[in-house]
Amino acid sequence: MKNRSKILVIEDELESREALTLLLESAGYQVHSAESGEEALELLRKNPFEIVISDLLLPGVSGIDILKSIKEDSPHTSVILITGNTSAETAVEAMKEGAFDYITKPFNFEKLKVQVAKAMEKNRLIAENIYLRQQLHGKYRFDNIIGNSPLMQQVFSRMEKIVNTDSTILILGESGTGKELVAKALHFNGNRREKPFVALNCGAIPTDLLESELFGHARGSFTGAVADKPGKFEVANNGTIFLDEIATMPMHLQMKLLRVLQEQEVERVGTSRSIELNVRVISATNAVLENEIKAGRFREDLFYRLNVIPIHLPALRERREDMPLLAQHFLQRICKEMNRSLMSISPDAMHALEAYHWPGNVREMENVIERVVALTEGDVIRRQDLPADIGGMDPQDSIFPYPRITEKGIDFGRTIEEIERRMIRDALEKTGGVKARAASLLKLNRTTLVEKMKRLGFPNGNNLSSRT
Ligand SMILES: Nc1ncnc2c1ncn2[C@@H]1O[C@H](COP(=O)(O)OP(=O)(O)OP(=O)(O)O)[C@@H](O)[C@H]1O
Ligand SMILES: [Mg+2]
Repeated sequence: MKNRSKILVIEDELESREALTLLLESAGYQVHSAESGEEALELLRKNPFEIVISDLLLPGVSGIDILKSIKEDSPHTSVILITGNTSAETAVEAMKEGAFDYITKPFNFEKLKVQVAKAMEKNRLIAENIYLRQQLHGKYRFDNIIGNSPLMQQVFSRMEKIVNTDSTILILGESGTGKELVAKALHFNGNRREKPFVALNCGAIPTDLLESELFGHARGSFTGAVADKPGKFEVANNGTIFLDEIATMPMHLQMKLLRVLQEQEVERVGTSRSIELNVRVISATNAVLENEIKAGRFREDLFYRLNVIPIHLPALRERREDMPLLAQHFLQRICKEMNRSLMSISPDAMHALEAYHWPGNVREMENVIERVVALTEGDVIRRQDLPADIGGMDPQDSIFPYPRITEKGIDFGRTIEEIERRMIRDALEKTGGVKARAASLLKLNRTTLVEKMKRLGFPNGNNLSSRT
């Protein structure tokens, strides 16, 4: 049940509060309620809500205050204000401040249900929109490859130009940047799409088997060759062969491969009959081939033969503007796969994702989102739900979750002092007030601790034990 949409009702009149709660619960929502603005703000700090329905006139913190604070902290939460029988001006002001809608008293429950459903729908659309915007933008057909950045636009436009040609392609990029994805997109969107796409990871096959994997063999041509077998080139005939991790190919096979590419024909190992080929070749590597050539591990002539049209896939950190898009894309897919309602990513968590350097590129982001979705209880992914190295907080390290920095700012000096105060208090508690031991727990020398205590206004040893 934890995936039901959450609504917070803020209303000081008991009767109205209960009526609203009942109504919304019966409509299938998960409802929390608060009788004052203060209580509501407290709840809002702890829980994300999709919709907040608040009375405008509350003693103390008013509905408008709550609205403003929500718009600041979680702008995607929809706020519906109850305007009582106040003037139309108030309602107008509320809408100006960003309320989603307002209702008047006495409640029209049918209308309210529709308003709430609309707000829910709007939230869902906002989440989807980020994703759709990209698809509207892209006049390209490679719609499972996400990216709006100029660098990715370059990739797409190059792909567009070559998708229906037979030219040989070399895809370059760090691990996890989408090389295989691009290779498949080129095949399945091109005019060979009805023909085979055959992928071979040159690095994953033992060297002594690679030759027969690529070119096939005749029965009896080596121990274990119990029957004639076509190689991947033959299987890919009329289609595309994808030679992944091409840099790992041993030198003697590079020579043979070059010949096959030049002559467009292949001989199975142990035969002398050549088979004519019509195969499009796409290869990929995360190595810098120029360096491999210099080091004598890769044939220069093969490089030129493969590198007719290079496609360079940028590292994720080189195109930070794509990060929210990708995160949203994976979030949507994974929530669906895991059968849960669509989650959202808090702005703070998104900043952390955007600041991270993603050494494993898009694959790493995919894995992170999957892990976070699996481990997060609520509907919102917050910064602390992220892995520690991406700016999330290890629960063990979070003894002092310092206050969130909002538009109002934060008093740096006083916050640090408060943290110092709490650490010292904890250390003293642990050591029964023995300052020397507390100092050593804090890796301070004793005089420093005593000075700090004095400065922070700790009582002078009287109500702490004076055994030092
Ligand atoms: N631009 C993108 N949009 C959506 N998904 C992407 C994108 N780039 C990569 N992915 C996803 O990231 C994962 C890794 O992509 P892929 O396997 O194509 O990378 P790779 O460059 O071949 O990595 P490696 O060098 O490690 O083999 C895949 O699940 C792929 O679908
Ligand atoms: Mg790959």
